Amino acid sequence: MKFTASLAVLSTAFVSAVLAQTGSFEDFSQCASYPTQMALSYFKLSPFPMCINKTYTLTATGYASEPIVNGATLAVTGRYLGRLVYTDKKTFEELLAPSGQSIPIPAGPVTLDLSLLLKPNRPPNVLFHFQFVATNGDGALLFCQAAGLSATNCP
Ligand SMILES: *[C@@H]1O[C@H](CO)[C@@H](O)[C@H](O)[C@H]1NC(C)=O
Repeated sequence: MKFTASLAVLSTAFVSAVLAQTGSFEDFSQCASYPTQMALSYFKLSPFPMCINKTYTLTATGYASEPIVNGATLAVTGRYLGRLVYTDKKTFEELLAPSGQSIPIPAGPVTLDLSLLLKPNRPPNVLFHFQFVATNGDGALLFCQAAGLSATNCP
C-alpha cells in the first residue's frame, strides 16, 4: 500500500517535471558545430508553448563579437520524425521592429527580442524539432538553438 502510494507520488512528480517546461535556456540545445559570433548567456521563447497563428518572441542575450548588420536573418525549421514540415525566414529588421530595436547593433553585450508569427499550417500539440538559426549580414553564424516544441490553439 505504502509502496503504491509513493510510486504514485513519484510518477506525479515525474510528469510535472516533464510538463514544467518554461521555454528557457535549459530547454534548448546549441546546434552550431563551430564558434558563433554571439555567445549566448540566455535564450527564451515566449509564450510557451507557442500559439498557432500568433506571434512568438525569442529573447537572445549574450555577447556579440562583431556588430549585427543589415542582412542578418533568422531561419526557422521544424522537423517531425526527421521530415521538414515547417520553414520560415525573416530579416532582423522585421523581427526587431516590434521591440523598437534596429540594425546595426554594435558589438558587445546585447539582448535581442525577435518576434515572428507562428504560421497556421501546423497541427496543435505535436512535438516538432525546431531549429532557430541566426546569421549575421556578413554571413557568419550568430547562434543556432534547437528544441522539441509543440504549439497550441490559443484564444
Ligand atoms: C490567422 O489569424 C488571422 C488574423 O488574426 C485570421 O484572419 C486567419 O483566419 C487565421 N488563419 C488561420 C488558418 O487560422
